Amino acid sequence: MLVGSGTTAIYVTLEALDLPPGFKILYPDVTCETAVNAAVYAGLSPAFGDVELSSFNLDLDQAVRLVHCQDVGVIVATHIFGHVCDIPRLRERLANNGVFVLEDAAQAYGGELRGSKAGAMGDASIISFGSGKLLDCGGGGAILTDSDELCDRCRHIARGLQRDAARTEQSRRDFMRAMFTLTKSVREPTEFRRCRDRLKREHRNAYLCGISDARVDALSRKFHTLEETAHRHRQRADALHGILSGAPDLVLPKPIGASVPWRYSFLVRHGRDDLLDALIDRGVRATRYFRPLHTEYGEPDAIYPNSMSLYDRIINIDVGVDGRAWRDVRAAIEELVEVLVV
Ligand SMILES: Cc1ncc(COP(=O)(O)O)c(C=O)c1O
Repeated sequence: MLVGSGTTAIYVTLEALDLPPGFKILYPDVTCETAVNAAVYAGLSPAFGDVELSSFNLDLDQAVRLVHCQDVGVIVATHIFGHVCDIPRLRERLANNGVFVLEDAAQAYGGELRGSKAGAMGDASIISFGSGKLLDCGGGGAILTDSDELCDRCRHIARGLQRDAARTEQSRRDFMRAMFTLTKSVREPTEFRRCRDRLKREHRNAYLCGISDARVDALSRKFHTLEETAHRHRQRADALHGILSGAPDLVLPKPIGASVPWRYSFLVRHGRDDLLDALIDRGVRATRYFRPLHTEYGEPDAIYPNSMSLYDRIINIDVGVDGRAWRDVRAAIEELVEVLVV
């Protein structure tokens, strides 16, 4: 079923599961922060697990261990940057454990692993049609499930969502104003986080909404482009992989299955910031997504060595740019690799 965003899709699914307040929702420490806000809006507690350095996805061994020693009700298993997360294996290992696996395929639809498609691997799955996604409709999201019962409950919850874009915009402005006041008035980090999460819950209409007719039209018009776009992303990521594989000091990803890269992401052992600046100076859309989230959500003492190291070393290259910009990206990377190799 369709909703107004990927964040809304996660929120509606979590609400439909009817978990006790404060129940833990386990996310990879490296993911998009709005996905984590969905748990906060639903009055649940985000918790985090470290990631693997080969795929940048949730470390499944650690996730299974955390399930055994904490009250984890849901694992949000994300295919980060489009790299397929081995959700079939995770579900096998959690069988009979009562943990719900919510697949976050916002960045990954089109991917595949051992015959399972991204978007069809979880107990339920979500996708996003937000800006920069494979099917960019300027916004929108979907919940995918085989369960009629879950679908009925999601539909019921989604009926209560605001669909008027002007009202959502106004709610967002109100939230921004309230956050600005909070930032000026509360400095102590624990108190700040507590107040921030309360504000997020109170202003959740700023980010949760039903899908508009215009977005449904955009999606119907774009849907047929998915295969072609996925193919282009794959080709571009393969090209970058080939160019960068000769360079010293870089660690290239080793995704499993057939991924559809949302970004081409790699690690730089030394001097990441200089390389990132050099790419940006040459007009490449390069970023250092995503900030480790445990520090933001009240686990400052927890140790997540891989996600911290990833944040210090990652470079993401946008492979979804138009044809001319792509030629410039390729040229800039070839030029920089020559410098690195010398
Ligand atoms: C992995 C992931 N999950 C969820 C979302 C939320 O989707 P939306 O922006 O449509 O709310 C995003 C957004 O970028 C994302 O990258």
